[in-house]
Amino acid sequence: MSVKILAIESSCDDTGAAVLVDGKVLSNHIANQKIHEQYGGVVPELASRAHQENIVPVVDIALKTAGVKREELSAIAFTQSPGLIGSLLVGSCFAKSMAMALDIPLIGVHHMQAHVLANFIDDPKPDFPFLCLTVSGGHTQIVLCESPLRMRVIGETLDDAAGEAFDKSAKILGLPYPGGPLIDKYAKTGNPYRFKFTEPKIPELNFSFSGLKTGILYFLQENQQKNPDFIQENLADICASIQERIISILLNKVVKASEETGIRDIAIAGGVSANSGLRSALEVYGKKYHWRTFIPKFEYCTDNAGMIAITAYYKFLAGDFAGLDAVPTARAAF
Ligand code: KG4
Ligand code: ZN
Repeated sequence: MSVKILAIESSCDDTGAAVLVDGKVLSNHIANQKIHEQYGGVVPELASRAHQENIVPVVDIALKTAGVKREELSAIAFTQSPGLIGSLLVGSCFAKSMAMALDIPLIGVHHMQAHVLANFIDDPKPDFPFLCLTVSGGHTQIVLCESPLRMRVIGETLDDAAGEAFDKSAKILGLPYPGGPLIDKYAKTGNPYRFKFTEPKIPELNFSFSGLKTGILYFLQENQQKNPDFIQENLADICASIQERIISILLNKVVKASEETGIRDIAIAGGVSANSGLRSALEVYGKKYHWRTFIPKFEYCTDNAGMIAITAYYKFLAGDFAGLDAVPTARAAF
């Protein structure tokens, strides 16, 4: 009998639904919420309301694209943590109701574990053990993965996440939210070595980005005093230099992690792994340090339900189900 899973992702401001059949993601749909742009960040209450509006149509289209009927489903999966609690509650209530109505099991998924397992949606897949640099809007972690469901965080940020470093830098430059993709865009035509931002000295495999943010702020203030048009005239070089520094902070720690663990299968995941500079830098580092590198397709880097579906598949095979009393939580370790 084949395993057919409907997965729902609603941890932040994107409503996602995906359908997986026997380990293959057949559909992956997302409804983005544009409403937050005007506020310069995600407004939790507005996000919950938009999830309510989007969830039924997104689930319908995911089932239709995959050619799977509700009655054929083997389980319903949902993002249980971490995330905005109001957003998580919409997805979990929907998933529970559907699991109850169809009398099939429910699977709760950890969002960060799912980002890592996005590397298992398509081939080639990493071999175990491997290291994953997971970089998103809320997290920056180096994860040591021993099996699909056994992973351990061996390094993480002490303050801002890499995505926040991108978004906050963009904000200082006067770019709209979320600024990460815009920095990526402008960086493409800029000189990454024109401006030098310092690399913080953080012990072990941990990261820190708050000093970089302050450094950028002072650098811009100083230059704008001399030339009020400094940002407009140098936007591409500024973006390229900021991006270059964020990438080197990230990848230099991965080099350290690989040397300490002896692991050379290296993956990246999370929204920031959509960054074109990081994707190409990983290839360059990979050649230099003899790594096998893995990067999910773009659609599986930023928040999506395909990654929830693949994680749920491994949980289904392991018999790891959630009760109907499962409660989503804003924070959770794995
Ligand atoms: O994984 P994700 O979609 O959501 C969270 O779980 O946080 O990550 C969102 C983050 C945002 O900070 C966004 O600016 C960043 O990923 N991001 C990028 C790019 N695309 C998304 N940062 C840099 N370059 C990109 N191309
Ligand atoms: Zn995410």
